[in-house]
Amino acid sequence: VNHLLGIKYLNEKDIELIFKTADHFKEVINRPIKKVPSLRDITIANLFFENSTRTRLSFELAEKRLSADVVNFSAASSSVKKGETLIDTVNNILSMKVDMVVMRHPNPGAGIFLSRHVNASIVNAGDGAHEHPTQALLDSYSIRERLGEVRGKKVVIVGDILHSRVALSNIFALKLQGAEVKVCGPKTLIPKHIESLGVGVETNLKKAIEWCDVANMLRVQNERMDISYFPSTREYAQQFQLNKSLLESLDKEIVVMHPGPINRGVEITSQVADAENAIILDQVQNGVAVRMAVIYLLASKINR
Ligand code: CP
Repeated sequence: VNHLLGIKYLNEKDIELIFKTADHFKEVINRPIKKVPSLRDITIANLFFENSTRTRLSFELAEKRLSADVVNFSAASSSVKKGETLIDTVNNILSMKVDMVVMRHPNPGAGIFLSRHVNASIVNAGDGAHEHPTQALLDSYSIRERLGEVRGKKVVIVGDILHSRVALSNIFALKLQGAEVKVCGPKTLIPKHIESLGVGVETNLKKAIEWCDVANMLRVQNERMDISYFPSTREYAQQFQLNKSLLESLDKEIVVMHPGPINRGVEITSQVADAENAIILDQVQNGVAVRMAVIYLLASKINR
């Protein structure tokens, strides 16, 4: 299939190939000239219907480092505001000879919907609370880089699991690669039946941290909540914040991750986020190489 719509549609071999390709591109972007000419004949549109810092810039850099032509679209300043539909918008962009669409959209399944209605390769850059496949790939790639492999590692994903596309894509990716996965957070922010995905549930952060090799800390996504799922930010921080005293109570060192954006002082303290065992900026750096790999592999299937 000529799309990356979710980790759900990949297998372990697909992930291995993406990582092997990303290893090569990581070496490329560490050279003085950080570019390869591979995609000189490809044009990519980045369509962002929702805010982004990391994902948007990371995709744009990845595309430019592959020498693709790039156009950027932000819904807030577009004719979507005049009532144009998603399919009309994308078909108009594609008529200008665009080959691939990277899209972030607030609606779950938006990428899948688009892939059925337009003639282009679609990369999901986050669709509502559904999936964020390239984030999960760069997260696993970063665990592999720090710990040697993902297989057998114990990973806890902490926070607002209910509204998190990062959590769902990470669960799929980590399970495919043979990691053990738990989720941790307030009961109200953990989806019912999540155990059916083969993950454990822990509502006590200290127990979860004592169990794990890696803690992936998520923020509470207030923008996706129509009711309050938790009494207050202060109460959330009291029970689910990763801080120095919690880490110092362990008899081991764990790897700390965060997809960003961080709400410092809520889910994680600055001291922990900026410590040596936190790989938060490595995740961001690896995102460019991983996205180069995804785009390169998808482009290899385009008739040119
Ligand atoms: N991790 C992530 O998706 O960050 P942005 O929302 O800034 O792209």
